[in-house]
Amino acid sequence: MKKNILLLVVVTVLIGCKSVKKFGETVKIEAFGEKPMLIREPYLQMVRPTSTTITWKTDSISENCFVEFNEKGTTEKVVVKGNLVSHEGNKFNESILTNLKPYTTYNYNIYSNGHLLASGEDYHFTTAPDNKKTAFSFYALGDIGAKEQGSFAKEPATRITELAVKPDFGLGLGDIVYPKGESKNYDNHLFKPFQEVFKNIPFYPVAGNHDWLSDPEKNFEKEWALPNNEHYYSFNYSNALFIGLDSSNGDFYNVEEQVAWLTATLKENQSKFDWIVVYLHHNGKSCTYKKDYQHVENLYKIFANNKVDLVLNGHAHTYERLKPYDENGDVDLLRVNETAYENLDSRFVSVTIGAGGKINKKWAADPNDPKNCIDGSIVAYAEHIPSFALILIDGNVLRFKGIDSYTGKTFDEFTIKK
Ligand SMILES: [Fe+2]
Repeated sequence: MKKNILLLVVVTVLIGCKSVKKFGETVKIEAFGEKPMLIREPYLQMVRPTSTTITWKTDSISENCFVEFNEKGTTEKVVVKGNLVSHEGNKFNESILTNLKPYTTYNYNIYSNGHLLASGEDYHFTTAPDNKKTAFSFYALGDIGAKEQGSFAKEPATRITELAVKPDFGLGLGDIVYPKGESKNYDNHLFKPFQEVFKNIPFYPVAGNHDWLSDPEKNFEKEWALPNNEHYYSFNYSNALFIGLDSSNGDFYNVEEQVAWLTATLKENQSKFDWIVVYLHHNGKSCTYKKDYQHVENLYKIFANNKVDLVLNGHAHTYERLKPYDENGDVDLLRVNETAYENLDSRFVSVTIGAGGKINKKWAADPNDPKNCIDGSIVAYAEHIPSFALILIDGNVLRFKGIDSYTGKTFDEFTIKK
């Protein structure tokens, strides 16, 4: 979503009614007209050390919108006026909150036309840290939102809300909304099953081939607020850099510009961060029912030579962890049953996590079946199971868990130590 937002940051003085103080003058937040219908619960994006974006969707009668927030444990409220964007007969209500404190939890309420539309203990966000020491975690999954009968997206979403420690953000590994990435399907297919997650954990998706079956400019880009051009972008969190790529139909969106941008971003940042995670929709080599994508394999050299540690993708609706690759896409065959990688140097670990909301019921994971791949020895672990990943980074240790979306149990686990 484009961000030409007029911001009005004002301090609320609570004297019985909702009133806000703006540069010395007091303004009342007054409800007017009919209460707009909340079509989509608020969702968080771009949660940075001192800013965040909160968006919700109403019917078209919304004429203004506000977010009211306070630092957890305090009573002083701040109100930010948002911007309205019409889309397919409804309104996106979007506020960008600035001047926040790093790594601080805030509670928030949302208003449209002065009517309170959502508030309560689940509506909160925590800004990103402004240091490189804070331990953190994130979840990742691909191939998520399909028609209710054909999708189990509610399962990973529920397991994520049940985690003892809430992840700091989530990564969406493409094919975010089936069948064609159309805006009209976002609510039922994705936002409803994930609404309890998205209201207090920011999400960073990349587009997959199904998201490209409708025009991303009129669909994917309208639904999200993402860095850079919203197709390929980076953001940092603590001591890690995250790079999202748009592999489109396997051939990459604006491939030359995107690869040049990737190379430049890695060169500029590789000495600044301890960890680099790349995520995209398509796989390179794999032993699934999907082919190997040459455009992804072409990136192996760039990944291996520029300190990328972990590559996450979706596309095949299954779970598959590959042995650490070198720049030629060769694995070290001595690394059998290894779950504690140390000093990988110029190698990286690649994992398919594409059973986020759908699974291929007609297929079984078997790296030794020649129908699946030429060389099954590249696979470290495969399990055909509805699943998501939870990754924890604490200093020089990365801990990865593949989690069963129905039981919440960890079925694959490995660490990378530097
Ligand atoms: Fe796909």
